[in-house]
Amino acid sequence: MGVPLLLPLLFLVQTCIPATWGLRCMLCERTENCQVKECDLGQDLCRTTVLRIWEGSEELEVVERGCAHSEKTNRTMSYRLGMQIITLTEAVCGSNLCNRPSSGRVPTFPRSRFLECASCASSDLSCERGRDQSLQCRSPREQCLEVVTHRSLEGILEDERHTRGCGNLPGCPGPTGFHNNHTFHFLQCCNTTKCNGGPVLELQNLPPNGLQCYSCEGNSTHGCSSEETSLTACRGPMNQCLEATGTTEVENASYTVRGCATPSWCQSLHVAEAFRLTHLSVSCCSGNGCNHPNLDIQPRVGGAPRTGPVHLSFTITLLMTARLWGGTLLWT
Ligand SMILES: *[C@@H]1O[C@H](CO)[C@@H](O)[C@H](O)[C@H]1NC(C)=O
Ligand SMILES: *[C@@H]1O[C@H](CO)[C@@H](O)[C@H](O)[C@H]1NC(C)=O
Ligand SMILES: *[C@@H]1O[C@H](CO)[C@@H](O)[C@H](O)[C@H]1NC(C)=O
Ligand SMILES: *[C@@H]1O[C@H](CO)[C@@H](O)[C@H](O)[C@H]1NC(C)=O
Ligand SMILES: *[C@@H]1O[C@H](CO)[C@@H](O)[C@H](O)[C@H]1NC(C)=O
Repeated sequence: MGVPLLLPLLFLVQTCIPATWGLRCMLCERTENCQVKECDLGQDLCRTTVLRIWEGSEELEVVERGCAHSEKTNRTMSYRLGMQIITLTEAVCGSNLCNRPSSGRVPTFPRSRFLECASCASSDLSCERGRDQSLQCRSPREQCLEVVTHRSLEGILEDERHTRGCGNLPGCPGPTGFHNNHTFHFLQCCNTTKCNGGPVLELQNLPPNGLQCYSCEGNSTHGCSSEETSLTACRGPMNQCLEATGTTEVENASYTVRGCATPSWCQSLHVAEAFRLTHLSVSCCSGNGCNHPNLDIQPRVGGAPRTGPVHLSFTITLLMTARLWGGTLLWT
């Protein structure tokens, strides 16, 4: 009786055990409710993402843990929002369960002071109104940052459009950026006192650089159909035509992005984070209109198709989170 059962069982065991076990990380949404998660292919790191809001002696902390894409690196960012200082940090590590919560650690606001930067945020309109405050960086690795994350596409929750402060982000010193008809992402970093001050950076203030690229965002019927794809004049350092195709993390649907980019955006990390795409293929070229939908452009920079999910954009998700939670949690 046992023999006929054994074969399917053996088969099952063999197909269920992969040749190598994937990395295992703690998965925690908010501080509680942790579980062990085996990471997907391409996710070779565990991450710990911390949002802290300081207001005088009051402090609010939210921690998330999970798997992360192998290209992720440690990053930090701090900025002022009214009376608050918002600090976002993300640390990655590469061994099983290395992002396990360490017990009993009480975070305290670091007292050491390094570079002094200008700081503002769009949530309180301090950037738009030119009301920079001063922020003292708390780590010697942090620089002064200027971040623009703007998407005007229907149905997309508008993020913190301008942010200035201290931080250490991938893409520094930059400038690194992307723009098309709907979106403008830009990052630049500098390392002298308040070097990120002055009027905030707006796309229309960057001079056209002579290149024209096709612009669209969406799928072949909504957003990137031929009627919705048009040439746009590239500006500032965004002197490459970019085409990226991938899968949306939430709906698992195909998504294409076209526009003008700095060479650093032609690697998949920034595209993946800004548009929350997985299974990305990014390519860039530098002739007028060379990212045309019907031209099967050859990758010049970056371009290796990528598999495996990338974790949600750090700046986008957490800045949004910071604003939402900052608003809600402080009222309760
Ligand atoms: C990233 O941060 C973690 C925790 O702060 C630290 O242990 C690790 O050395 C950092 N890695 C790098 C490459 O700086
Ligand atoms: C400051 O920034 C410049 C330009 O990015 C860089 O060459 C230099 O090494 C940086 N200095 C420090 C101390 O980080
Ligand atoms: C394109 O996206 C729209 C809206 O998200 C969806 O309704 C439509 O089915 C998609 N078309 C294709 C071909 O995937
Ligand atoms: C993109 O912007 C240009 C200039 O503002 C405009 O002429 C064009 O119609 C826009 N294209 C789309 C698809 O919105
Ligand atoms: C996503 O879509 C692809 C093809 O459309 C399918 O093979 C895959 O199983 C889907 N993944 C999830 C998690 O739904």
